[in-house]
Amino acid sequence: MGKRASDAVEYLMERLPVPPVVGVILGSGLGELAGRVEEAVRIPYAEIPGFPASAVVGHSGVLVAGRIGGVPLAVLSGRIHYYEGHSMHAVVQPARVLALLGCRTVVVTNAAGGIDRSLRAGDLMLIEDHINLFGSNPLVGPNRDELGPRFPDMSDAYRADLRALAESVARRCRVPLKKGVYVGVHGPSYETPAEIRAFRTLGADAVGMSTVPEVIALNHMGVGVIGISCITNMAAGVLRKPLVHEEVLATTERVKDRFVKLLVALVAAVGEGRSPDTLLATTRSARRPTRRPAGGAAGRSPARRKA
Ligand code: HPA
Repeated sequence: MGKRASDAVEYLMERLPVPPVVGVILGSGLGELAGRVEEAVRIPYAEIPGFPASAVVGHSGVLVAGRIGGVPLAVLSGRIHYYEGHSMHAVVQPARVLALLGCRTVVVTNAAGGIDRSLRAGDLMLIEDHINLFGSNPLVGPNRDELGPRFPDMSDAYRADLRALAESVARRCRVPLKKGVYVGVHGPSYETPAEIRAFRTLGADAVGMSTVPEVIALNHMGVGVIGISCITNMAAGVLRKPLVHEEVLATTERVKDRFVKLLVALVAAVGEGRSPDTLLATTRSARRPTRRPAGGAAGRSPARRKA
């Protein structure tokens, strides 16, 4: 990692109340969680050395650190997009900083268009896997061996144990959570109907312009990832209507209570390193704990394929 990331880490370490163990990256219009952080310290990206500036509507560009449910965390409210003209390295810099600050698990969220016809605008979708159609990769260039391997494994990029935890937490909170594959594209133009048909054939359920670069960088650094898409609209051609960014923001506004409820519970569960079964055991439909703690980066389990 270049000097700029270490400058950012040094700067933040002096200002954060506690080192975060969980990170959250909030997508377009999904900044509400930042208001739920206790003992919050808010640091605008513009003040953090080496942080690129983001200017998209719905992205405020502030790092909020503190606690949720007692768990030390750092929330990135507003992300840097590739379509803004930043390099892939710049796009993943904030995610790398989360990892370097000590986050062992990062919850990555986004707004996405629904490709699979069973999805509806307003659904939340747990990302099971992704397809990288950015035409680039944040790991291009000399490898920083101290951060991770030259050829990182991506066969369990959205870790199966963390997905099981997320599903368990969602059930417990009674927040409906669909599952699917996210395809990441360059943007900023929305897709054509022909592209959406092609992506469906490729196996994608939802499409967006973010997430994939950060998830690659986090996997490179051995950080556990949970991905959640807010389906803000049906993708081009699925419904007979044009796509507008205002619809994306209107949908995130509509689902924000459910979304925040899920994230708050998820952060608490991940931070406690408690397994799904341990969580369920605290409810009346108790089952015995059988799984290992979910928060740690060690002991990755093999990917489970969609049935
Ligand atoms: N396509 C790409 N990115 C998006 C969409 C979409 O339909 N909705 C929200 N982000």
